[in-house]
Amino acid sequence: MSQNILVAVAWPYASGSLHLGHLAGAYLPADIFARYHRLVGNKVLMVSGSDGHGTPITVRADQEGVSPQEIVDRYHPEILGYWDSVGISFDLFTTTLTENHRQVTWDIFRAHRAKGTIVEGESLQFYDPEAERFLPDRYVEGTCPHCGYPTARGDQCDNCGRTLDPTDLLNPRSRLSGATPVQRSTKHWFLRLGAFAGEVKAWLESKTGWRRHVKNWALGMIEEGLPDRAITRDLTWGVPIPPEADTLGEGKRIYVWFEAVIGYLSAAKEWAALQGTPEAWRDWWQNPDAKSYYFVGKDNIPFHAVIWPAMLMGYGEHNLPSDVPANQYVTFKGSKASKSLGVGRSIGWYSERLEPDALRFAIASILPEQNDTDLTDDEIIRRINEELVATWGNLVNRVLTITSRNFDHQVPEPGSLDKVDEEVIATVDTALTAVGELISEVELRGGLRTAMEAASAVNVYLNSTEPWKLLKSDRDRAATVLYTACAAISGLAVAFTPYLPFTSPRIAEMLGTGPGDEWSRPKLTPGRELGEIAPLFEKISDDILNEDA
Ligand code: MF3
Ligand code: ZN
Repeated sequence: MSQNILVAVAWPYASGSLHLGHLAGAYLPADIFARYHRLVGNKVLMVSGSDGHGTPITVRADQEGVSPQEIVDRYHPEILGYWDSVGISFDLFTTTLTENHRQVTWDIFRAHRAKGTIVEGESLQFYDPEAERFLPDRYVEGTCPHCGYPTARGDQCDNCGRTLDPTDLLNPRSRLSGATPVQRSTKHWFLRLGAFAGEVKAWLESKTGWRRHVKNWALGMIEEGLPDRAITRDLTWGVPIPPEADTLGEGKRIYVWFEAVIGYLSAAKEWAALQGTPEAWRDWWQNPDAKSYYFVGKDNIPFHAVIWPAMLMGYGEHNLPSDVPANQYVTFKGSKASKSLGVGRSIGWYSERLEPDALRFAIASILPEQNDTDLTDDEIIRRINEELVATWGNLVNRVLTITSRNFDHQVPEPGSLDKVDEEVIATVDTALTAVGELISEVELRGGLRTAMEAASAVNVYLNSTEPWKLLKSDRDRAATVLYTACAAISGLAVAFTPYLPFTSPRIAEMLGTGPGDEWSRPKLTPGRELGEIAPLFEKISDDILNEDA
């Protein structure tokens, strides 16, 4: 039975180029998962967008002396370009700057306010006496009070991942002037997160199949206590406060971390409206059988596994996340890839130099699902040449080339299959089922490994049956072996489709099996004309990723 699956992917700040850490952390895994579910016939809605608010945007705008809008207008199209070039198949990639998003944010704000879980309050916030302004979240840096990390940001510590309030920091410094900020009292709206602690805890505990690091982190956060969180800031760039609640004084906006997560719901609504079926979003948000998967990096765990569920509980009548398969970090020679650190080159830089499936393969084979994973250019090249090209590309190419040359460019008549032939096909069929299960469990790296192991098994089969020798000694047997190899390849092509969506359909064209539209080995018709045979991938030169190559 077809299922509705929401694939919700972290909203990148449109404040700079994205790098391979982003691709590995959220976008590629989400895309592999979405493509698999579409292929098996589920109804997928995959949404995200540019996060257009928050200090990453305004700090950048201040540095360049331009408006925040100009920053978003520059990077949003660049980000859309990445999705195009790497094949990240969003149904909608919007921004948080839309009128629709404002309305949906207000709905949720109002629902909580009516229930008394958003309340007015006073808090101490940092004020920069030199710059003469309030300093929200990332405008302040200092030492993490939990782990002692010296350059924690005002909203979160990069080292221990805990969410922070700027006033929690020890030795705070203003990022605007370097001055020591002073605390001033200011009025804000607060989300009473603690009111949901019990409900969120019970919900998390009921979850099975979640990554252990995600569940433990979220439960640990609740264990440490959920303080009320200010969800407005002294700022002029951000979603405005609903007019009836905008009573706390001039120059206040909704905090980016309250509204950005709401983007998943606003994007679904925007998508539905764009389709001309404005109620269709409900199929993913209010149908109790629908599932939702949130693909985010580990620094986003608190917001997706605790805060957003609490916001949804207070709102009511909307599905909670089914899973938050957060990834750990990709490191580049040991340093965390990050826009602000400037480590790691942009996705665009790589996609200009590598075929999209080659890049996808290299990243999919190192996805940091359980641990931080280091990535180097040499590793990317090695994965492409020694695994993708040597094991999979060459297998397809050599089987199709000798079949075409020796059997009149047709699928050979198989005759009767021997045990070894049946075994290798069974290996592929078993692998195909296993890959599907692994992808459903968001074990994407394992899924790719399983498909590659089956491809290796087909190579072993060819090396032992040696059809190129049989062509002279026993042509019928050669036909059986090559038919078997073609059948195996056609099944493997299905397993690779979510990972390698650009090249896998070409295999179906070459074998004349038609567009694969289900998760099973397609029927291979003896005597059928083959398509044009051409290599799927090229071996790449060692210096392709050299800056000056
Ligand atoms: N822009 C933020 C980040 O990159 C938020 C991402 S996910 C959201 O960390 F859902 F909260 F927007
Ligand atoms: Zn810390």
